[in-house]
Amino acid sequence: MESFNVVETLQPAERALFWVGALITASLALWLLYKIITGFRIWVLGNGDLLSPKLGKWAVVTGATDGIGKSYAEELARRGFSMMLISRSQEKLDDVAKSLESAYNVETKTIAVDYGQADIYPKIEKGLAGLEIGVLVNNVGISYSYPEFFLHIPDLENFITTMINVNITSVCQMTRLVLPRMEARAKGVILNISSASGMFPVPMLTIYSSTKAFVDFFSRGLQAEYKCKGIIIQSVLPFFVATKMTKIRKPTLDKPTPERYVAAELTTVGLQDQTNGYFPHAVMGWVTTVVAPIKLVLCLGLRMNKAQRGGYLRRRKLR
Ligand SMILES: NC(=O)c1ccc[n+]([C@@H]2O[C@H](COP(=O)([O-])OP(=O)(O)OC[C@H]3O[C@@H](n4cnc5c(N)ncnc54)[C@H](OP(=O)(O)O)[C@@H]3O)[C@@H](O)[C@H]2O)c1
Repeated sequence: MESFNVVETLQPAERALFWVGALITASLALWLLYKIITGFRIWVLGNGDLLSPKLGKWAVVTGATDGIGKSYAEELARRGFSMMLISRSQEKLDDVAKSLESAYNVETKTIAVDYGQADIYPKIEKGLAGLEIGVLVNNVGISYSYPEFFLHIPDLENFITTMINVNITSVCQMTRLVLPRMEARAKGVILNISSASGMFPVPMLTIYSSTKAFVDFFSRGLQAEYKCKGIIIQSVLPFFVATKMTKIRKPTLDKPTPERYVAAELTTVGLQDQTNGYFPHAVMGWVTTVVAPIKLVLCLGLRMNKAQRGGYLRRRKLR
């Protein structure tokens, strides 16, 4: 009777397992190498020169008098674009326009409108008539004054309408007004400022978070439609930036100044259709959407916002 040799019997299985392991290790190594090379291309080399007046003489920025929008306006004017600035307050618009003209010797125009209103687009259309627009930055946006449970939001009915008008309608309508002329010239860039809070639901900032998810979906869908027509449409999803909206006064590495954020973001245009725009924010985006389970992200978001609400109401003595 032949004896049963265990070692010999298992040898083919061992060899197969070796090759499976080798294949997995090689795939992981190739994936890691790809990530390092694309990361180096985006975050170290960048695509800084893409945005120039070769795209079209004018750049349009909504919400251009403060924070991130003002920084986009400054950076685009520095690159030689003539600037169309749109915000609510004519006085602030005049100040920004004057400072851009004197610092960068560029032409400026302004339109004062309240994006909370839905009937402003004929006025904007008139103001944009005849301009060769190379870049549109759909930046205007509003958030909550403090995190709040949906049904406890003060003046909820108006809050909903205003937030949808400012954060969603503005992006769709401005795109409707600007994209046809970009399509006709087969060039142009539209940057839609969404938010990291559009990457996952943020409890107690639920309406804001949802409007920003819309902006992200709108941008990515539109980019798929118009990429082959030479138009770049980018969804920009920042985490915290030190602006009036966030009330962050001391910038840090993860909460940069708007100038620093915008300088980093502009190097990603043409390289990423969807971007967190700034390397530390890209790491935070990876952790919150790939590494951490969504239940944990929701739970921590709720806890953080409940604490912020408590602090805010205590300070306002509204409890
Ligand atoms: N800061 C952050 O951490 C952060 C993070 C993620 C995403 N974002 C997004 O980035 C964008 C800019 O945020 P920000 O922090 O720079 O905001 P900000 O400092 O509050 O500036 C907002 C700008 O929009 C204008 N604006 C506000 N409401 C308006 C309205 N109803 N009609 C017309 N203009 C209006 C403001 O000017 P007037 O008040 O003079 O009109 C100002 O120029 C927003 O879409 C925001 O959601 C910001």
